[in-house]
Amino acid sequence: MSWPSYIKYHGLALPPGAHSEDSLEYAENFSVEDTDVFSVTYPKSGTVWMQEILPLVLNGGDLTPIQTIPNWDRVPWLEEKRLKVVVDQLPSPRALVTHFPYELMPQSFFSSKAKVIYVMRNPKDVAVSSYYFHQMATFLEDPGTWEEFIDKFLEGRVMFGKWTNHVKSWRHTELGDRIMYITYEQMIQDLPAALRLMSDFLGKNLSDEVIEKISSHCSFKSMQANIMSNFTLVPKIYMNSDKSQFLRKGVVGDWKNHFSSKQLAHFSSVIYKELEA
Ligand code: A3P
Repeated sequence: MSWPSYIKYHGLALPPGAHSEDSLEYAENFSVEDTDVFSVTYPKSGTVWMQEILPLVLNGGDLTPIQTIPNWDRVPWLEEKRLKVVVDQLPSPRALVTHFPYELMPQSFFSSKAKVIYVMRNPKDVAVSSYYFHQMATFLEDPGTWEEFIDKFLEGRVMFGKWTNHVKSWRHTELGDRIMYITYEQMIQDLPAALRLMSDFLGKNLSDEVIEKISSHCSFKSMQANIMSNFTLVPKIYMNSDKSQFLRKGVVGDWKNHFSSKQLAHFSSVIYKELEA
């Protein structure tokens, strides 16, 4: 299957298929509600994990949405075509995900009281995850060799641009207590504790029992077994699971199996410099 080239949007490259001029215009004019909850991520940082977590935290642990609605319709991406199709079916409070940097959020978002959970992941693991994703997703450009892909990633020649720009854009916002930050690593280390932080932030008073229930249904293993979340509903011409699974490893530190010491030194120095700039 050969795809048209990436769409250019405010300097960012977005893959065709899920995005279109129309979906981006729809996102730009989207009417954000005060009760909306966004999970914001740079791609490969735990977006689909949040699409499992948010409905359960918001509805008190009712498994119906994660068992009956595919993740992309359950917690749609702000910038993708599916939002327009499913928006009227979303329960209130609505949960959405986005890979947009801060400045591309719709105008109505800034004047709303909508909340944001920003999930950040070690960029070395993001790069590794992205490398495999580029191999299995036919709508993404060929990643080339790992060595070549590291340069593409560092230079932002990948979907949604540079990791450092994304993180920096969301680091200094004027959202005050409307935003909470969490890391993928924190979620791996102690998911119930991370869920407790999220549920408190969202004003939900969940019992320990409900937190445990959500945690168990959002484990890597449970999600791998959930056809509404493991992308096996997507035809192989779009996502070739023979090359790599979407839910691939779900661990911290896989970068150690991929970076040479020279690559590590280069990668770290570029990332540190840009984060400090
Ligand atoms: P790996 O490729 O390292 O396994 P995104 O949803 O933003 O595209 O991120 C995908 C990454 O999140 C993949 O990383 C995927 O396995 C991981 N992930 C998704 N659900 C997870 C879970 N329940 N526990 C741990 N990792 C998860």
